Amino acid sequence: MNRSHWLFCPGPVMVPDRVRQALFHPDMCHRVSGFEEIIQNVQKNLLKVFNANEEYTILLITGSGTAANETVISSYFGPQDNVLLVKNGEFGDRLAEISKIHGIKTTIIPYDWGACVDIADVENALQKHPEITSVMMVFHETSTSVINPVSQVGQLARKYGKSFVVDGVSAVGGEDVNVARDHIDFCTTSSNKCLAGLPGIGIICAKRSELEKTMHNKTRVAYLNLYRLYKMSETRHQTPNTPSVTMFFALDAAVERLLEEGLENRINRYKRCARVIRRGVREMGLKLLVDDAIASNTVTSVFLPEKISMDEFIRVLENKGYTLYPGKGVLRGSNMFQIANMGEVDEKMCLELLQVIKESIDELRP
Ligand SMILES: Cc1ncc(COP(=O)(O)O)c(C=O)c1O
Repeated sequence: MNRSHWLFCPGPVMVPDRVRQALFHPDMCHRVSGFEEIIQNVQKNLLKVFNANEEYTILLITGSGTAANETVISSYFGPQDNVLLVKNGEFGDRLAEISKIHGIKTTIIPYDWGACVDIADVENALQKHPEITSVMMVFHETSTSVINPVSQVGQLARKYGKSFVVDGVSAVGGEDVNVARDHIDFCTTSSNKCLAGLPGIGIICAKRSELEKTMHNKTRVAYLNLYRLYKMSETRHQTPNTPSVTMFFALDAAVERLLEEGLENRINRYKRCARVIRRGVREMGLKLLVDDAIASNTVTSVFLPEKISMDEFIRVLENKGYTLYPGKGVLRGSNMFQIANMGEVDEKMCLELLQVIKESIDELRP
């Protein structure tokens, strides 16, 4: 692979050549049958990636992962709802923020960033607050690399008769996401993380029975309107507004490529890359934020030695052709950075990155 710049950040990611080549597709209008066929193909293939059954459908919205999350929160929840939000990082905070903006009542179980979710807390809250109608959480808390216990929370949601909404933006295509097994009613993702597509499409895997319930919800949004998206998709295999047509070609190619590789093989490739990265940074004497047992397959959160400036480190790597992110929010001050291995990445590339990290740390040591 010939690249001048390598992305080891958690989106946008490096994409297979055929995804980029899909951008050269001849011009096409989104109201023609050829485009409807592309939408249907993407939907059919994505259902496999979410491990969905016939009770589910896929909705595609031009926008980022936040567009998918905001569509669900703004259109599915109404004044009758009280949402139990379990959060332990930046992206849990963002779900709280979107819910607040849309006036959704939430009962929050907050954890420190990097901490594990305790299932007993979730069950206690469900017992104590019968007014709760839904449970919402992030699958892979990208800001810390923690994988949350979605499967167990899904069982609790089912046991207590609550619907279940999951932000799977950095998990789908990289983790064991299974909406049918885990009783997930809505699961979101985006085109440019583990799916290895280009940025620009928010994706929602939704249970049809729950979508039907939104028919009479008071409309508070025009563009991010879940029911409109659903009805246009069901009746015409189209989107209500003009989609980013070219990016749909790229998404189609990305998901085709994923299924050719095989979902399990893709997940295993990510796992192997994360293992190489974690071994490498530990060999350099660097500490990680979370235990491997709860860490994701695609993001590693690492502390730089205190004496090295994070801004300098990120800049030096960028100049050498490698993009990495510094920690977010409360972790920004603790000299933490993140290495993501999402997209078109293999173990050899991870080893090369580790070498560059080692050299850069040595250069920057006072
Ligand atoms: C878990 C999670 N949710 C939501 C988002 C927001 O996605 P976007 O930046 O595509 O809007 C991200 C982005 O990294 C994420 O990792």
